[in-house]
Amino acid sequence: MIKKELVFDGNEKQVYSTDDPNKVIFRYKDVTLAYDSIKRARFDGKGVLNNSISAILLGYLNSCGIKTHFIEKTGEREQLCRKIEIIPLEVTWRKRIAGTLATLLGVEDGTPTPNIIVDLQYNSDELGDPIINKHHAVALGLASYEEIDEMFAVARRAGDLLSELLHKAGIELVDMKLEFGRASDNGEIIISDEISPDTCRMWDEQTGRRLDKDRFRLDLSDVVASYKTVLERIEQLKLS
Ligand code: C5P
Repeated sequence: MIKKELVFDGNEKQVYSTDDPNKVIFRYKDVTLAYDSIKRARFDGKGVLNNSISAILLGYLNSCGIKTHFIEKTGEREQLCRKIEIIPLEVTWRKRIAGTLATLLGVEDGTPTPNIIVDLQYNSDELGDPIINKHHAVALGLASYEEIDEMFAVARRAGDLLSELLHKAGIELVDMKLEFGRASDNGEIIISDEISPDTCRMWDEQTGRRLDKDRFRLDLSDVVASYKTVLERIEQLKLS
């Protein structure tokens, strides 16, 4: 696979075209953003860790028959992915109410729920990624009802699979944000973007210690060390 030009230069990631029109290379950077990109920092090595974590988790979903954009890891910061047309929605799977949802609903951060919550957000920094419902998404022309129903079903299955997997590594999957796209070769809906401590809340099951981006959001220490713990624990599961 030949890496060609930079087609997207984001804060946390870069995307390169390749000699295959239906494949791109994702490159993970060390920059971290939070609170609609207002808070920013650079953590040496974060991109390398997230590339590895994401490769393992997306690869695991692929092996379970869930379609994701991930094809293979091609370097310490890079992975080969299927090219997609972005759908500007975030589908969040939640086993506890935390973060923005806890603020919105006025409950304590990390409140457990008897049910799994799956919610939909409009991916727009300008609007602050508002929670919307599927009728809003269809009205805005972002996706069809069928596509949204499929994204919800995939999010539920992916959440079940990954929380079971992470449990084996002593990690509780508290919540997980997924993004989806339409594959450029056949239009099917596939999980795109990363799955990592930047996009999930992951807590140590024994101690409740946060091992994810909340360490940065909440000005806790050991951001990179915590991501490293996640990687080391899931590597021990010997999935790939
Ligand atoms: O803050 P909130 O509760 O909505 O976050 C839910 C999950 O989605 C968290 O794991 C958070 O890290 C992730 N998230 C994300 N990108 C955003 C907003 C939230 O990955 N823009």
